[in-house]
Amino acid sequence: MNDDTLHAIATAPDLRELQALRVRLLGKKGELTEGLKSLGALPPEERRARGAALHERKRAVEAALEARKAALERAALDARLAAERLDLTLPGERVPAGAHHLLTQVTNRLLDVFASLGYEVVVGPELEDDRHNFGALNFPPDHPARDTQDTFWTTDGRLLRTHTSPMQVRYMESHEPPFRVVVPGRVFRNEAVDATHEAQFHQLEALVVGERITMADLKGAITEMATALLGSGTRTRLLPTYFPFVEPGAEFAIWWQHPKTGREEWLELGGCGMVHPRVFEAVGYEGVTGFAFGFGIERLAMVSYQVSDIRDLFRGDLRLLEQFRGVA
Ligand code: DAH
Repeated sequence: MNDDTLHAIATAPDLRELQALRVRLLGKKGELTEGLKSLGALPPEERRARGAALHERKRAVEAALEARKAALERAALDARLAAERLDLTLPGERVPAGAHHLLTQVTNRLLDVFASLGYEVVVGPELEDDRHNFGALNFPPDHPARDTQDTFWTTDGRLLRTHTSPMQVRYMESHEPPFRVVVPGRVFRNEAVDATHEAQFHQLEALVVGERITMADLKGAITEMATALLGSGTRTRLLPTYFPFVEPGAEFAIWWQHPKTGREEWLELGGCGMVHPRVFEAVGYEGVTGFAFGFGIERLAMVSYQVSDIRDLFRGDLRLLEQFRGVA
């Protein structure tokens, strides 16, 4: 045995090789082990000197093995730590956050207002039947009022609802008064599409039924909504008009300052009125009165946020949509 051995230990490339060296030197049949075993066969004076040398050699080998083992283990740990190293100062990956569509924001804003006034939010089907969309709302079969609400029909005689008013009928068919509900939803018309007309748009409908509900309650509800949207002191106006399912019927407007021109003017929003007795009759209600109103959400959103073409609201163009992140 010579210092090549210590050198081999000191440069063993890994723990396996090191273990092989240990076995070769110190194992049961290892070189040093055999040397120590053979001491007994020597004459005493030779045995002492040889024994001392072998023991010292064994200690040196053991120390070298330990040192190399520690070095190899340290190197392995260092490599692992380097591989697992995390630079916590690196900036995180930015996930682009989505946002609600302008129409959704305006709708949610309106629903918040009505929820705070004690209204329940309900929704109805977009595919309707004639009775709910027209018949029970007092549109007789050949009445010209139907012409203003041309729509798309399925081959089995159903239609895409032209307004959210059919949900008035559906709600009353399955609930007893008194109640206050609002109905947001998508509606459809067979329109020639242009900057202010789309074949689909959204409405918000309100229906309040109970004992002795009056037109003053209707005016109050519309004024509350306008106040919540535009601030206190907001005025509202009702002008008589005709809708088959209300009597009297009116169109309503709110007095506001146009965000673009700065002029104060009436913003015509939608229709309203006292629920027609024939509608109550159609759903089997007696001894109650009620009011209803409904209006287009696109129009309110467009004038409020100066969107000049209704088609832009349905194009999904991010350049437009991103301008309305969190506005309403
Ligand atoms: N449904 C009507 C429309 O789309 C709007 C409307 C008018 C709703 C009068 C109402 C109402 O609830 O009372 O043209």
